[in-house]
Formats: sequence, structure tokens, C-alpha cells
Amino acid sequence: MKLMRTHYCGALREEHTETTVTLYGWVDRRRDHGGVVFLDLRDRTGIVQVVSDPVKTPHSFELAGNVRSEYVIRVTGRVLRRPEYSLNSRIGTGFVEVYCDELELLNAAKTPPFLIAEEEEVDEKLRLRYRYLDLRRPRLSHNLKERHRIIQTLRRYLEDQAGFVEVETPILTKSTPEGARDYLVPSRVNPGEFYALPQSPQIFKQLLMVSGIDRYYQVARCFRDEDLRADRQPEFTQLDMEMSFLSQEEVLDLNEKLMAHLFKEIKGVDIPLPFPRLSYKEAMERYGSDKPDTRFGLELVDISETFVDSSFKVFASTIAGGGVVKCLPIPGGDEKISNVRLKPGGELFTFVSQFGAKGLAFLRVRADEQGAPKLDGIGALLDGLSEEKRARLIELTQAKPGDLLLFGAGPVATVHDYLGRLRLKLGAELGLIDPEKINLLWVVDFPMFEWNAEEKRLEALHHPFTAPRVEDADHLKEALAQAYDLVWNGVEVGGGSIRIYQRALQEAVFETIGLTQEQAHDKFGFLLEAFEYGTPPHGGIAYGLDRLIMLMLGEDSIRDVIAFPKTQRAQDLMCDAPSSVDKKQLDELYIKSIPPIPIKPSA
Ligand code: AMO
Repeated sequence: MKLMRTHYCGALREEHTETTVTLYGWVDRRRDHGGVVFLDLRDRTGIVQVVSDPVKTPHSFELAGNVRSEYVIRVTGRVLRRPEYSLNSRIGTGFVEVYCDELELLNAAKTPPFLIAEEEEVDEKLRLRYRYLDLRRPRLSHNLKERHRIIQTLRRYLEDQAGFVEVETPILTKSTPEGARDYLVPSRVNPGEFYALPQSPQIFKQLLMVSGIDRYYQVARCFRDEDLRADRQPEFTQLDMEMSFLSQEEVLDLNEKLMAHLFKEIKGVDIPLPFPRLSYKEAMERYGSDKPDTRFGLELVDISETFVDSSFKVFASTIAGGGVVKCLPIPGGDEKISNVRLKPGGELFTFVSQFGAKGLAFLRVRADEQGAPKLDGIGALLDGLSEEKRARLIELTQAKPGDLLLFGAGPVATVHDYLGRLRLKLGAELGLIDPEKINLLWVVDFPMFEWNAEEKRLEALHHPFTAPRVEDADHLKEALAQAYDLVWNGVEVGGGSIRIYQRALQEAVFETIGLTQEQAHDKFGFLLEAFEYGTPPHGGIAYGLDRLIMLMLGEDSIRDVIAFPKTQRAQDLMCDAPSSVDKKQLDELYIKSIPPIPIKPSA
């Protein structure tokens, strides 16, 4: 008769001594000590020491000597307090051990390609190829359980304390514009037609507001075919929410409470409310980013005025052409950052060049005889500044002797981008970022649209369903949006907006982003129609759950908080997806596949 599990391994404590237990699990390690065999038995909850010796447990002794790491076994035995010399206060079960009266081998195991019991550094490709083994290891096993706990906490709050209803929305659907490419699925029964996998449930959640659901949420899988990075996956999970009859203020307030609850439950910390807010404009000007890491200073300063009439032509002409000159002052940077790194070919120079910098001019701040700051450096740059302008530059940048001033000149968006990136890089290098700090903030007042130079048209900065501020509705092109992003230590963990709920305004926005009436109708006719049947004012937000969990668990990549993630090339190395399919399948779908290169590149 099969013996039932009485306990999980990690649950055994001194209170269980003298009882007989049945445990199931994997052999974490086996040690033979002077004729006694010790097995660390592992399951989801932890590890417990199992003992077998020829005198006290003769029935299990031979088999115990033969099992290997990762064998799956059943142990039935008595719980005893460990002898004084082997008490281990580092693990929960460290005061007890199980004398193994019966040992049953349920399954043997090959030697795994990497150690399960220890967190040794393993090549990520190998980890992904054997993901089920990687998930046995302590760190990832912990991450999966914590992911569950975080999602559970969010669900409990939304459902039990805030009246949200979870509704599932379709996966086979029509394209929703979130700015990435769609994953397409051909329809066999509708030859030549395709579904798109949702980039988000955006339109459906809005339609649920039309339906009167009032407060919707979903732990929703989203699909985006875009360039991947450490914090981006082709399929990822959102905590998606939508609410009717709430203002932006009320949406932010509700979400701050949700986050505060989560931080308290998961990390035991009290997050001060309300969260600070920064306008998009200010975020860009001060940090060169719409997701600023505010844990450290190194703010950008606009110093264009000092170079307007300068003989340093590169800067003066940039300004004359509508560009800017901005400075990234590095306190104490004079000693820490050498000329070699800053000059053409140098590592920092090369870094900013990748993001469109034409150069990386710099000045060093030294002390004059009186100890006051004095600029030193590139002749042409210095000569282009009058005494008065030099003083003004020192004033604007608050430069002190020992500082380094780095300059970026060019179109404002480009300068913000590369100086913002340089700021993050140097902040990390100079040890200015306190990893313990939790800086949560809202970025608000985004512009409705930005110029897409390639396509020569305006495009929605958030998405085209976002409402303009009420006072801006009659000058849409320059309007600011009722949109908000939640930023945590420089990572965008969520974003949302108050939506348009009137057909005329929605049509005007479609027109502004260059959709003809016909195209708008073709793509979103059903939504426009729905707006005519009594649509409540509504708005919402979606969190990137993987990112939120990554930060909560102190990981650097969302791959480490997703059970079966994909590589940078969007491949699943374990089951080898994507892969080619039979010609018959393609024929049924009326599809011809014509790949440019016949050989599949490696991950
Ligand atoms: P948005 O496109 O800003 O908004 O997405 C919301 C959040 O999802 C996360 N995210 C990602 N996470 C991992 N991998 C990706 N490829 C990826 N792309 C986005 C980010 C982001 O903040 N429908 C709107 C929300 C709304 O308006 O309510 C939307 O999807 O953390």
C-alpha cells in the first residue's frame, strides 16, 4: 500500500521528535561518514537531514548508500533531535533528523549538467536548456514562490478590498496599438486572414467599462515582437486594471495604496504616500529620461545661454540651429575620470557616440589662488567663453574645484538620451546609487503625441485611446495627456491613462496620428460604435508584473522571475521554439514560408 506523505521536508521541527513521518523528495546530497549515511532530502519547502546506519536502520542502509543526488525517494522514519554537536541553526529543520526505517527508490536520475544543491555560476544558455533543473535550484525556486505570493497579494487586495472583478480577454484577437510589432496567427477557416496576439488587453478592458463592469483587473499575458533586453520579453505578464468614473487623481491614489500594501506585505516596508510626481518635461530636462532614477543626483543642466554667441562654433551653431548644449557636472570627477576615457576613441566617448553624440567635450574645474572654482581644459572651448560667461557656467552648474563638466550638444532629444544614459553609467560606476533605496514616483503630463521622423507623422506617446487634459482638447497637437507612468528606481513598472470616451474626440485623435477615416473605421470601428451606446468616463493602468517582481526580488533580469523565459532572440531553448513546421500544416493555412537564410542562427 502506498504510504501517504505526512509532512513536507522543510516543515519538521523539534515538536515532531519521536513521531514517525513519511517524506517524499529529491536527494540533495549524500554523505557517508564512518559507516553512517546522511541524505539531505529536498522538496519545495526545504531540506531535512535523513540518517541511515547499519544498526539503527538496517532495512534502509544498503539502498541509502546507493542513492545519488537528484534521485527521487520516499523516506519513512522517526524524527529525533540531532546530537548537540550537529545542531544547525541556519536552517529551520536544523535541530532534527529523520532515522530512515524505510527507503523506497521512486526514480533514479542522471547526473545533472550543473549542481542543483549549490548556486554555482552557470552559463545562462545551459540553464535555459535545462530550465526544469534550474527551477529546482534555491534561487529560482524561491523566485517562483515569491512571484506567486506577490500576485496573490495583489489579487487579494484588488478583489477583497477594492471591489475589482477579474475578467479574461481573448488571446486570438485583432491588433491593438501599443507600439510594437504584432505576433500573428493565421486562420485556417478564414483563408488569408490573421489574428493578432494581444499586445495588451487595452480595447477589451475599455469595452468592459462600456459593459458596466466598473472595476476590472486581469493577470494578463501580452505579446510584443520587439527588440529584447533584460527587462523585456516577447511574452510577458501585466497586472491590468480599468476603472469607471474615477479621475486621474483617484486612479493614482488607489494605485499608491495598492503598492503600499504590496510593499508592506512582501518587503515589510512602509512606503510614504503620496508618491512624488514629476512632469515629463522636468524628468527629461533634469534626468534626460522619462523614467528617471532619482536615487542619486548628477542632474543635467541647460547651459545653452553661455554658448549662444560663443566663438566655439560647434556649440554656437547647434544652438542657432534649434539644438541645445547641456552639461552633466560630475562632483569630484576631475580625479576619477581621465582624459583618455573622454577623448575620441575613449570608452566614455564611444559609449555616448552609440546614442548619437557627435563628441563629448569636457572641462575640468580647478581652484584659483583664492580657492574659487576655475575652468581648465580644451583651449577652443574655454576661449569661446568670456570671463562673464565662465562665471555664469560655474553658477549654473554649481561647479566646485575638483569637479568635471561633461557637455552634450545637439538636438534636444538626442542630448537628453545620451547624457541621461551617461548619467546612469557614471552614477553606478562612482557608487552613487544606494541599492537599498526605494524611489517610487509618478511621471505625469506626458505630451499626447511625438513626432515620428521616419514615418513623418505624429504618433501617440502612450496609445491613441489616452485622453488629453480637458483644457487642451481644442489644440490636440500640442496637448498634454492625462497619462501617468510609475517609475521605480529608474524602471518603468507601470503605465496608464484616463481614456477618451467620446466618439468625436477619439476620431480627432485618430486623424491627428494620420489615420484616415476609413482606416480608423477598419481598425477600431467597433470601439467607436461602442462609444455611442453610453460609455462611462474611465481610465486605468497596467503594471509590468515581471518587472515589478524582478525589482521586489532584487534580480537584474526578468528572465529570473519567469518560469520559462525566452532568450534575447525570442527562443525557448528547452523546447526549441520557434521551430519549422510540416509543409502540410502550412498548406492548410495557405501559407508559404520564405526565410532569407535557411540556417537557424544560434541563440
Ligand atoms: P504599456 O505599453 O506601458 O501600457 O505597458 C505596461 C507595462 O508593461 C511592461 N512592459 C513589458 N514588460 C516586459 N516585457 C515587455 N516587452 C514589456 N512591454 C511593456 C512595462 C510597462 O510599464 N494598455 C497599456 C496600459 C494602460 O494604458 O492601461 C499598456 O499596455 O512595465
